[in-house]
Amino acid sequence: MTESQYARVAEDSADVVILGAGPAGLVLGNLLLRSGIDCVVLERAGRDHVQNRARAGFLAANTVRILERNGLDGGVRRRGREHSLCEFRTEDGRFRLDYRSLGRGEPHTIYPQHELVADLLAQFIDDGGRIRFDTEAVAVSDADGPTPTVTVREGDGRPGRWRARYVAACDGRHGAGRRSLPSGVVHRHHRDHGVSWLGLLAEAPPSLDAVGYATHPRGFAGHMARSAEITRYYLQCERGTQADAWSEDRVWAELDLRMRAAEYGPLLRGRVVQRAVVDLESDVLEPLRHGSLFLVGDAAALISPSAAKGANLAVLEAEILAQALTADLAHGDPEPLAAYSERCLAHIWRAQEFSHWMIRLLHDDPGTEGASLFQKRLRHSRMASLRTSRTQQDWFAENYVGI
Ligand code: APR
Repeated sequence: MTESQYARVAEDSADVVILGAGPAGLVLGNLLLRSGIDCVVLERAGRDHVQNRARAGFLAANTVRILERNGLDGGVRRRGREHSLCEFRTEDGRFRLDYRSLGRGEPHTIYPQHELVADLLAQFIDDGGRIRFDTEAVAVSDADGPTPTVTVREGDGRPGRWRARYVAACDGRHGAGRRSLPSGVVHRHHRDHGVSWLGLLAEAPPSLDAVGYATHPRGFAGHMARSAEITRYYLQCERGTQADAWSEDRVWAELDLRMRAAEYGPLLRGRVVQRAVVDLESDVLEPLRHGSLFLVGDAAALISPSAAKGANLAVLEAEILAQALTADLAHGDPEPLAAYSERCLAHIWRAQEFSHWMIRLLHDDPGTEGASLFQKRLRHSRMASLRTSRTQQDWFAENYVGI
């Protein structure tokens, strides 16, 4: 059918309908396309919004390997920068870990996520992939049978329907995939860590050559380079803080204090161009499948930003699902699809455990009034082990970069 014919037909079909054009949806779409599987990506936003949305930017070594072996690493190879330094600034002093010399000896690659999404989008479209922007999935129905249907609302408000053999929900924690799960078919494990961060994006070069983690009686502060000109900072704040509540002067004064600028050197300042308050919470859905509907990335599990794992898990799960769908649709082998949920959950829970450990390393347990002294002592001891024990440092490096 020609493009204009598509425009008229309110109904359409694909073997695999992918909801969402984030890292999960676009890696899945590219891999299915490469395997000759008929698929379509339905994305509620426009192309500009999708490829300019600043998100995470730390790619795990395994993520780079997945992109490399699928020929999706062009941009990462040309513009990504390897990085392997963490600096902890604590009440008991400062120490640095070069995690490339620890654990499995792997670095991160710093590569802004929106650039990765733009690369994946361009590759998918260049390879003839079908994508519908400004097309919001409203619901997935009949997922418990072999012919699920996705109802959509198109850019002009027109309703539409996509018939599929399988639906991959890569549309995040608030997407149609999760919403369409009948009650009782999936269990949601949820944990609110009780910690909130004011996340800031500053038009300023990085102040450290490392990812900075600062613990302080007034709360946690974090520093992560996004590019040579942009730096992300985090400031732990009270639950319910409004993103614009703190003036820029107060933000920089608090960052100076908690990162001990007087002791370790000034922070390079710049205009704060983006602010958001994030409540650190995690959730995991089990299983990651309901009949012909599969959950991938944030739609499958939400992980707190304390260890930059979200996008890396999304890419890993997308490759696992792409291989499983190809085995089923191209080779008639249903086994990998049957194993999809358990296989991904093993990686998800390991990442959740490490992310939870990081949260307890960097914050007192706010669950108790004023954070119990016992918890504070545990936190100090955990940090001392990381500072002094090589085996603890190897464990940290393997889990910090690993997926
Ligand atoms: N219909 C169509 N598209 C939707 C819908 C919907 N109902 N709801 C959300 N979307 C789109 C969003 O616009 C977004 O482009 O789904 C996409 C989801 O992308 P992400 O939120 O990036 O989720 P995912 O691909 O799972 O990546 C997970 O990447 O965003 C980072 O660190 C973040 O952990 C997160 C990770």
